[in-house]
Amino acid sequence: KFDFEYTVACLGAGYVGGPTMAMVALKCPEVKVIVADINEKQISAWNSDKLPMYVFYEPGLEEVVKACRGRNLFFTADCDKAVIEADMIFVSVNTPTKKYGAGAGKAADLKNWELAARHISRVANGDKIVVEKSTLPVRTAHSMSRVLHANDRKLHFEVLSNPEFLAEGTAMKDLAKPDRVLIGGNNKEKAGKNAIDRLVWIYEHWVPKERILTTNLWSSELSKLVANAFLAQRVSSINSISALCEQTGADIDEVAKSIGMDQRIGNRFLQASVGFGGSCFQKDILNLVYICESIGLKEVAEYWQQVVSMNDWQKCRFAQRMVKSMFNTVADKRIAMLGFAFKKDTGDTRETAAVYVAKHLLDERAKIAIYDPRVSEAQIKMDFDYYEALPKDEKFSSRIDICKDAYGACKGSHAICVMTEWDEFKDLNYQKIYDSMAKPAFIFDGRYDFVLVVGFFYCLNLVFFLDRNIL
Ligand code: NAD
Ligand code: UGA
Repeated sequence: KFDFEYTVACLGAGYVGGPTMAMVALKCPEVKVIVADINEKQISAWNSDKLPMYVFYEPGLEEVVKACRGRNLFFTADCDKAVIEADMIFVSVNTPTKKYGAGAGKAADLKNWELAARHISRVANGDKIVVEKSTLPVRTAHSMSRVLHANDRKLHFEVLSNPEFLAEGTAMKDLAKPDRVLIGGNNKEKAGKNAIDRLVWIYEHWVPKERILTTNLWSSELSKLVANAFLAQRVSSINSISALCEQTGADIDEVAKSIGMDQRIGNRFLQASVGFGGSCFQKDILNLVYICESIGLKEVAEYWQQVVSMNDWQKCRFAQRMVKSMFNTVADKRIAMLGFAFKKDTGDTRETAAVYVAKHLLDERAKIAIYDPRVSEAQIKMDFDYYEALPKDEKFSSRIDICKDAYGACKGSHAICVMTEWDEFKDLNYQKIYDSMAKPAFIFDGRYDFVLVVGFFYCLNLVFFLDRNIL
C-alpha cells in the first residue's frame, strides 16, 4: 500500500506543466502538488485571483486551479524547495528547436532540460523519481540519468518517460479523459518497476487501467514524436489535396468526408487549412528528421521532412493566391486578419500560420488590421519581432492596426482573411461588414468550410477562395 502523503513537483509552469498538474491535484486530493518555475512572472500569474486570459486561456482551467490552489496545489518560484519536498518530480520545461550550433533549425534544444536535471541533482536531499513530461528525443532518459547521477551523495534517481498528449484549447477535457496515458520506464529492474507503479497509481485515480500503457523508456519517448508526426502528416496530406481540388473542381470537404468515412482512415484531423501551427508539430517532426539523419536513415528523414515542407508551401500558397486574386497587388490595401492564434480556444500564437501570411502580405506592402479575441497587442508585437515579419525599417504602428473587434478590423478593408476558426466569427453581422468594406470585397478562408458555415456569404458580392472554386 502506498502512503497517502505523497508529494509531486513539476519544474515548468507552462501550457503543459500548469494544466497537467492542476488535473493531478483535482483528481488526487491526498497528493500535494507543487508547480515551480524559474520565471517569477509566470508564477505570479498562476497565483493571481484571475488567471490572465492572454497567458492561460484554456477552457475549464481556471475553475480547476481555483478549486485546488492552496488546498493541494501550489505554484512557486522556489524550485529548490519544490525539489526537496517532492518524492516525484515532473520536468515539463520547454524544448524548442535549436537555433545555434550543430543541428540548428532541426534538433531539440535540450538546454532547459539539462539545467533542470542538474538542478534536481544539486539540491535533492534523497532518492527521487524524475518524470520526463517534456517532449524529448528518443534516448534522452539515458543522458538525463547520467546528469542526475553525477552527484557525490549516492542518491538514486529513477527516470520515467510520461509524454503529454493534450491539445491546447481542449487541454482540460484531454487531461480528464485521455485516449491513453503512456508511461515508459526501466521495466526490467525492480526500482524501475516500482517507479512505474507509483506513477500508474497517480493516474489510476481517474484514468481506467486499460488506458494506462506501460512500455520501455525508448518506446515511450519515441511514441510522442511519432504521434505528433502522424497527426501533422494528416493535415499536410489533406492540404496537399486541397491544392489539387482547387485545380480540378473537386471539393475538399467532400473528399475529406468521403475518405474519412472509411473506418480504416477515420474522420479526424482531415480539416484542410492555411497550414498547421502551434509550438510542437513542426518542432517535433524536425526533431524526428534530425534523429533519422544523425543515424543515417536518409530516406526516413526525407519522408518526414516533406510534412513540414508541404505545410510551408500551403502557408505561402495561401498568401500568394490572395495577392494574385486581388489583381496582383495589395500595396497599401488594408487587409483584415480575423484570428491570430494558431487555432481556436487558445491565446497561443507559437508558429501560427497567421504570422507567416502577414509577413508575405507585408512584403507586398499591404497594411494589416488584426483582431483576435484572446491574443493581446503586446503578444502580436512580440511575434512580429520574433518572426521578423515586418520589412526592414518599417514601424509596427505604420503597417499593423490591432483592433478591438472584427467590425473595426474589417472596416475599410479590401479583403478579409480568416486565420483562426473562432466560433464568434460565425455570428458576425456579415452584411454590416460587407457594407463597410472597400469594393470589390474579398474574403479568403484559411479554415476552408468555415465561411460556408455563414451561408450568408453566398448572397453577398464577395469573392472567396480556398473553400470552393467560386471564381
Ligand atoms: P512553455 O514554454 O509554455 O513552458 C515551459 C516553462 O518551463 C516556462 O514557463 C519556463 O520558464 C519553464 N522553465 C524552463 N526551464 C526551467 C527550469 N530549469 N526550471 C524550472 N522551470 C523552467 O512550454 P509548454 O508548451 O508547456 O511545453 C513544455 C513541453 O511539453 C515541451 O517539451 C513541449 O514539446 C511539450 N508539450 C507541449 C504541448 C502543448 O500543447 N503546448 C503538448 C504536449 C507536449
Ligand atoms: C497537438 C496534438 O494534437 C497534441 O496531441 C499534442 O500533445 C500537442 O500537439 C503537442 O505535442 O504540443 P495542438 O498543437 O495543441 O496539439 O493542437 P492541434 O489540435 O493538434 O492543432 C495543431 C494545428 O493543426 C493547428 O494549427 C490546427 O488548426 C491544425 N489542424 C488540426 C488543421 O489544420 N486541420 C486539422 O484537421 C487539425
